[in-house]
Amino acid sequence: MLVRLLYASRAVDTSPEAIEAILSQSRQHNPASGITGILCYGAGIFLQAIEGGRMAVSELYGHIHRDSRHKDVMLLDLEEISERRFGGWTMGPVNLSKLHHSILLKYSEKAELDPYSVSGKVSFALLEDLMAMAAICGKP
Ligand SMILES: Cc1cc2nc3c(=O)[nH]c(=O)nc-3n(C[C@H](O)[C@H](O)[C@H](O)COP(=O)(O)O)c2cc1C
Repeated sequence: MLVRLLYASRAVDTSPEAIEAILSQSRQHNPASGITGILCYGAGIFLQAIEGGRMAVSELYGHIHRDSRHKDVMLLDLEEISERRFGGWTMGPVNLSKLHHSILLKYSEKAELDPYSVSGKVSFALLEDLMAMAAICGKP
């Protein structure tokens, strides 16, 4: 049984080193538990989709929720899925500062990442677009 969970949070330490440490920890841990997904970071905000077995995703979200390196962790969406969307990624980083603003404008009033003010479905659509763009740029 596969599920996909989407959440947003605010980084406590926004330095590139702190963000990189989270990403490399995720890449290290996730393959063993069959977790795939995407972690997007921009303007102090994380947007992450994690997919995998129901128990593996529940346990990981529990860890993530308690992690003091971010705050205001907000669940955006949780659904049962028949196939993975981010299967080719262990935890691919997408740094929004490197991307064109038009992709953000496509889904919101301003060219800002603000998952707190849009629906979970909109945030997921944004992540899918970001993944496609990052793939085109060759940055898995
Ligand atoms: C924004 C954010 C995203 C994270 N994503 C993952 C992830 O995808 N996989 C993972 O194993 N840990 C991730 N972590 C780290 C976990 O919160 C936690 O530190 C890690 O699972 C190790 O937990 P443990 O020290 O209790 O064993 C993330 C942390 C943050 C702040």
